[in-house]
Amino acid sequence: MQHEKPFSQACENNKRVILSVLERVFANCRQVLEIGSGTGQHAVFLAEHLPHLIWHTSDQPQYHEGISAWLEDAYIENVKPPIAFTIGQDTFPNLDVDGVFTANTAHIMQKEEVRLLMESVASHLPQNGIFCQYGPFKHSSKFTSESNHAFHVSLLERGYGGYRDINELKAWAGELSLNDVIDMPANNHMLVWQKR
Ligand SMILES: C[S@@+](CC[C@H](N)C(=O)[O-])C[C@H]1O[C@@H](n2cnc3c(N)ncnc32)[C@H](O)[C@@H]1O
Repeated sequence: MQHEKPFSQACENNKRVILSVLERVFANCRQVLEIGSGTGQHAVFLAEHLPHLIWHTSDQPQYHEGISAWLEDAYIENVKPPIAFTIGQDTFPNLDVDGVFTANTAHIMQKEEVRLLMESVASHLPQNGIFCQYGPFKHSSKFTSESNHAFHVSLLERGYGGYRDINELKAWAGELSLNDVIDMPANNHMLVWQKR
């Protein structure tokens, strides 16, 4: 019997375009940690289509039941159960990863948590490791659309951290170089970082 599972339409809409980038940039990676796996939909889809990877899910504990439901229904061997990882509370998972993926987390986290995210990914990836960061961002203090600005204001009103500027991320990124900023649908971007 299938579980009742949380569902995100946004994940369904963006998972294929995200895959098209990850197929290329994670081609030489072996193990990836996903930070903020959310519903778990990205994990099952991306792990199934990137069978050379071991995909480690993680998120705050209240998301684990939903992620586990997606994983159990998917029967995919290369995706691992959720790790409790709340940036600002937990230490970075003790895993031998050479890739990190996160989607739509930087505008939800508080500014200090995003700074910690960038610093901890930079310090835990090995040399040449890849960090793929998907979502909406500001560019040199500018929003890429009026709707993005309106969404940022609504996030702040609800107590979330709001959009981060790519320059701000670069300043926190330590030994990570920003190799690519890829335009994605709906005014989103994929930032591709690599550890020097
Ligand atoms: C908008 S959801 C995105 C979920 C999923 N990645 C997606 O694209 O659908 C934001 C995610 O960020 C996670 N998150 C927020 N603050 C966090 C923190 N301090 N540490 C780790 N994850 C956090 C939430 O738990 C949630 O899963």
